[in-house]
Order: sequence, then structure tokens, then C-alpha cells
Amino acid sequence: MQTYSQISLKPFNTFGIDVTAQKFVQVESVEDLKDLLKNNYASEIFVLGGGSNMLLTKNIDKTVAHINLKGIEILQESGNEVLIKAMAGESWHRFVLYCLDNGLGGLENLSLIPGNVGTSPIQNIGAYGVELKDTFEECTALNVQTLELKKFNKEECKFGYRDSVFKNAEKGKYIITDVTFRLTRNKHKLNTAYGAIGAFLEEQGIEEPDIKDISNAVIQIRQSKLPNPKELGNSGSFFKNPIVTKDLLKNIQKSYPEVPFYEVDSEHVKIPAGWLIDRAGLKGTREGDAGVHTKQALVLVNYGDASGKDILQLAEKVQQKVKDLFGVEIEPEVNIF
Ligand code: EPU
Repeated sequence: MQTYSQISLKPFNTFGIDVTAQKFVQVESVEDLKDLLKNNYASEIFVLGGGSNMLLTKNIDKTVAHINLKGIEILQESGNEVLIKAMAGESWHRFVLYCLDNGLGGLENLSLIPGNVGTSPIQNIGAYGVELKDTFEECTALNVQTLELKKFNKEECKFGYRDSVFKNAEKGKYIITDVTFRLTRNKHKLNTAYGAIGAFLEEQGIEEPDIKDISNAVIQIRQSKLPNPKELGNSGSFFKNPIVTKDLLKNIQKSYPEVPFYEVDSEHVKIPAGWLIDRAGLKGTREGDAGVHTKQALVLVNYGDASGKDILQLAEKVQQKVKDLFGVEIEPEVNIF
């Protein structure tokens, strides 16, 4: 395991922020990871996966451990169900394509999400009516103190909307090394209820879609709205969709009767943050190289040389304006360092 000094992290975060890592190591095996933790305090290690859900606002004075664990393996097959394991460093989308090429269903709605397999459970990634937890079986994680591997089943992960135990009680205590999914071989449970998918398939004249049709639909919808990080730095949704009380919703409806919302429970609804930011007139706003994306207001972008602080400043302005206008607090979805 080679150690590098003073490496720019620009190629390692999808926002394309140019900060420096004091030290940088490529972790190729679980043994590498254990060695690293034997020789360093866990507090001196900065774990980096696909770099797709982070905003780096300063140089990292730690050893950045880039989790490069690779491998995909079918563990078990019985009847319609297949258990498949992917190592943490596999690219999420490449894994989804691997499953589709092997006729396995369950992840097609999650096509083209940036990032790696190992970070997918942390925020329970989700899109187009499906969340990771719907097919998650278990993950293995290394305890950074005891160096023991522990398995977490679905219940232990305590998944919520863009949330899990790894963001709460177990934050910073584990590094996920692999994730196992329970997928389907034949009788797939297709999820086309999300408005944009149904409309796309209808437009294409596809009446009986298969898993590849759904994946293609998701890819095209995403490409039409969300910037490709290789062309324009971004971290997907910068904010979470806020959950508000129905009283607050009623208040907003007085001025904006068209406000979209999704029922959460008898007292709460979720409002799309993208809609709030858009109606606040901020879609397409640009300050220097930091901007609010022109096609999806939930996404902040780096037009080239924005610093993490520039993006953060813009994010704070967006939060303030949404608060002033609608009385709603929106929280970042990305991790800010
Ligand atoms: N909207 C606007 N203006 C905008 C953006 C959205 O008016 O600029 C409105 C839309 O018209 C629609 C509603 O807001 O009525 C919802 O928009 P959309 O379907 O695009 O989804 P979203 O709630 O903005 C969430 C996820 C996305 C995911 C999509 C599709 C969060 C924080 N974001 O976005 O996830 O792809 O649903 O399922 O939950 C990500 O996490 O990086 C991500 C892209």
C-alpha cells in the first residue's frame, strides 16, 4: 500500500474542488485497511469513497484512505431470489449495469447514481420511487477501533429518507467493506409509478417494460435534468427535501396553491426543495463559479474554479432565501468538510 503526500483531491470528488490531502493511500484490500488503522489513529484517517456526496471546504490534514476494494460475486440463488455481493469500491452504476447484464432486477431505478457501492447504504440512496433499502440484504463493516468485521442487517441499519445508523449512532465508527443485495432472477417487481418514468415509457410506446427499459428511462431522465459530474462539477441533490407540518403547508398554499408535496404521515408532508428554490427565483443563479443548476434547482454546481467555501456561501444564501420566503429550513444532503 503506497502512501502519497500532498495530493490534489480534485479528481476524487465529483464537485471538482481543488483541495490538498496531506497523505493519500489507495486501499486495495481489507488487510490494507486493517494495517492502516493499526498504524494510525482512526481520527487521523479520512475515508473517501466515490467522492460524490461531499463538499470539501478546506485542505485535509489527515491520511485520505481511498477505498478501492473491488469484486462482485453471486453468493446464492434460490428460486426467484439472488443474493449478490459487491465490494465497497465498485462504482455504483457499473454494479447496476452488471446486475442488468446478468438479468437481475431490483436496482434498475437506481441507475446512473454517482458514487460507490460502499457509501450507498450510508445515505440510503434513492431515486424514482426506489430506495437502496428495498433490495438491501446486509453489509460488512470494519470497526475502526477493534478492527473486527461486523455484519449489519437491514434492521440494524435503521434506514430512513437519505439516512441510516452510519450517519447517526455509529457515525465514524465503521468503514463499510462490502454490501449484499437480494435481487430477482425472473419475476421482477417493476416500479414505474414515478410520474416521469411512466410518461417516458408511454412516449416510447413501451407497454410492457423490462428492467433494461426502466434503466434506460431512468438514465435518459437523469441525463436530461441532472448535470454529468464529468462535465460540470456537482454532488447531485445538495439539499434534502424538507419534511414540514401540514399547518406550514397550508400557510404556503395560501400564496402558492400549486406547491407539490408528498404525504409522510398524518401530520407531515415532504416538499421538494428544488421547487422551493426554483420558486424563490434562484434556479440558474450564479456567483463566480458557484451556481444553482439551470435545470434542477436542487443541485449546486461548480462551473470550474469554485472553492468549497464559494459553494457553501451560495448554499447558505439559498437556505436563507427559502427560509425568508416560505418559513422552511432546508438542510444539506451532502457532507461538508
Ligand atoms: N421542481 C421544480 N423545480 C426544480 C426542481 C424540481 O419545480 O428546479 C419540482 C418538480 O417539478 C417536481 C418536484 O419538484 O414537481 C420534484 O422534482 P424531481 O422529481 O426532479 O425530484 P426531487 O424531489 O427534486 C429527488 C431526489 C433525487 C432523485 C429524484 C427522482 C432528494 C433530495 N432528491 O429529487 O436524488 O433523483 O427525486 O427520484 O430526495 C440525489 O440524491 O442526488 C438525487 C438527484
